[in-house]
Amino acid sequence: MSQSRNRIVANSPQDAAARAASVFTQIVSQAVEARGICHVALAGGVTPRAMYSHLASHATTDEVPWSRVEVFFGDERDVPQDDSDSNFHMAQRSLFDHTPIDWERIHPMRADAADLDAAVAEYEQLIRASLPAGEGGVPQFDLILLGLGTDGHVASLFPGTAGLDEQEKLVTSCHIPVLGRNRMTVTFPLINAARHVLFFVTGDDKAETVKRVVHDGDPTLPASRVTPKNGETHFVLDQAAAKWL
Ligand code: 6PG
Repeated sequence: MSQSRNRIVANSPQDAAARAASVFTQIVSQAVEARGICHVALAGGVTPRAMYSHLASHATTDEVPWSRVEVFFGDERDVPQDDSDSNFHMAQRSLFDHTPIDWERIHPMRADAADLDAAVAEYEQLIRASLPAGEGGVPQFDLILLGLGTDGHVASLFPGTAGLDEQEKLVTSCHIPVLGRNRMTVTFPLINAARHVLFFVTGDDKAETVKRVVHDGDPTLPASRVTPKNGETHFVLDQAAAKWL
């Protein structure tokens, strides 16, 4: 395992999940100690499942002040919450079902709503009402967890989609042509207002993209637009994903 400022490279995906859980625990605990509450936005997809399972394991459950954690999501698919494709469903099965989290403090995105625009506006209002305002009045998450697509997308901010250039809304929806589906997603103004952004990325298939983002700062990739103005970006990777760094 190697570590430099805000970059951890673990030997295996399992080790990386443990390290990401440790970074999560540290940030959450510090936020609760400082402000009595922690607002986090979880990532979806497959990669975070191992991290959530590690967090849910007995060894770390007691360390996270779950009763003071307010959980939001960075993005969601246009499926019901009990659908196996739902990011909420994945987090519920791997994390929420195994931790003493206050279910009143879990806020799923309703990306399958009939009126998606209304659901987007409602979620933005919930974030504005729940989180403290940071610079410019933008709500400030203590932690936003992100994965990384091989095309460089984060949350559901995919290359070539309108959400990339959204500078006013904090939450938006978009049709993702490459998927043929709609998504709800946070936008860069909200991501870049966070105190901490944690990228958790594993797998050989992500190595080229990780290099283009972390080493090259390739401006053509959405992930390169994650530049928290008053916050820190953390990378937890396994050796496979970090092999070109
Ligand atoms: C989603 C995620 C998305 C994910 C990347 C990586 O809804 O799919 O939020 O941004 O983080 O697509 O996904 P994997 O972890 O499955 O590779």
